[in-house]
Amino acid sequence: MPISDSKVTLSFSDGTPSLKFPIYKGTIGPDVIDIQNFYKISGKFTYDPGFMSTASCNSAITYIDGNIGELLYRGYPIEQLATKCNFMEICYLLLYGELPNKMQNDKFIQAIAEHTMVDKKIFAFLNGFSRNAHPMAILTSLVSALPTFYEDSLYIHDPYYREISAIRIIAKLPTLIAMIYKFNLGQPFIYPSNNLKYCDNFIYMMFSNLHKKYKTNKIITKALDRILILHADHEQNASTSTVRLVGSSGANPFSCIAAGIACLWGPLHGGANEAVLNMLKKIDKTENISKFIKKIKNKSSNIKLMGFGHRIYKNYDPRAKIIRNICYKVLNELDLLNKSLFKLATKLEKIALEDDYFVSRKLYPNVDFYSGIIQQALGIPVSMFTCIFAMARSAGWVAQWNEMISDPNKKIGRPRQLFVGSKKRSINCK
Ligand code: SDX
Repeated sequence: MPISDSKVTLSFSDGTPSLKFPIYKGTIGPDVIDIQNFYKISGKFTYDPGFMSTASCNSAITYIDGNIGELLYRGYPIEQLATKCNFMEICYLLLYGELPNKMQNDKFIQAIAEHTMVDKKIFAFLNGFSRNAHPMAILTSLVSALPTFYEDSLYIHDPYYREISAIRIIAKLPTLIAMIYKFNLGQPFIYPSNNLKYCDNFIYMMFSNLHKKYKTNKIITKALDRILILHADHEQNASTSTVRLVGSSGANPFSCIAAGIACLWGPLHGGANEAVLNMLKKIDKTENISKFIKKIKNKSSNIKLMGFGHRIYKNYDPRAKIIRNICYKVLNELDLLNKSLFKLATKLEKIALEDDYFVSRKLYPNVDFYSGIIQQALGIPVSMFTCIFAMARSAGWVAQWNEMISDPNKKIGRPRQLFVGSKKRSINCK
């Protein structure tokens, strides 16, 4: 990592001698101050709950500039990737660092197709859940069980097995998610058809049944493919940081991904797309918007405008712009444009973007604001929205996990704390 010639000097007001720390420069983006020895030489910890100003690692996968609303996967702008590539090419790019040529692409797609099946015993797991169990709870459990079927996922220091685990994760998530959907419906599972493309295969498994093969619709599969591209990776967000932290202990990749899925489910993170739909349904009519906004401004209500705000994007989330256009196009092509939900969402967005409460806090629509509306238009049930997010993000998670495990300087993640509890005391003799 290039060390910049400037250092940072930390001086203390209590006369403690000042300390110097090296500064590292990335290819683009903010420099970092290397404080790995800070505790050793100062006897103090730094303090950064929520990691607002902390770089947890170095990575070459995704770069975000929140001020200008820029998102790059391996250097390519998301706007170009979302229009010129498909999700399989993005998975390859995130994993291997370059877009695939025809031969690499065909080989990768073939490898994914050969690993879409899951062991029949997984079906038995499903019967342990209540029929209306939340799909994200079931998905977390099923992915947690995968190491029991693929013992070689434990050989994390062998690049061959790391690659096969990555392929299995990307290939099996659609099958597991479609199985969960069928389980919730009480319908028989539909096995993957390996001569279909990735998104066509997923829609086929979701919406076919034993007596009628679902005829995939180009509009739906193209829109789903672009939703997966937009959600594929996003630097060190909460779920990716979870995957890295679990992976830093040497856990197998399936267990790391299961932990990432559990984190993604939270409504402040990937669960926001489901929360946006529920919020729009609760607002119901445009005339109710101002009353709802008033509630948000009253802190004690603890209500947030779901799909708005972002830790990094203090300008528009570039993905929100793209997904809003896809949403408009899909609703138009599916002749759902008079869909009150979309009208309500665009009206809510307009009002919020003119309201100083949101503008002063730099709260703009994020990727989750419109993704739920499209998914509902594609026929995907609200409770499955975050599973779709997990399907997409599995590519980023496994690429980030692989990057961390391949790093010769990796260390187990073990933050410290500011202790504010009771001083040492003895139990009074009873
Ligand atoms: C994703 O990190 C990633 O990259 C995530 C993600 C990815 O691809 O992995 O982009 C995916 O998770 C997108 C975010 C989806 N979540 C939501 O839409 C939920 C609603 N948004 C918020 O909960 C919030 O904006 C967060 C969690 C997204 C960001 O929180 P921060 O950066 O910790 O901001 P904050 O909570 O410190 O808020 C700053 C101020 C506060 O007000 P004050 O105390 O200054 O008065 O803004 C307010 C907050 O109350 N605020 C909101 C708000 N978000 C922040 N007020 C109302 N509605 C909101 N949505």
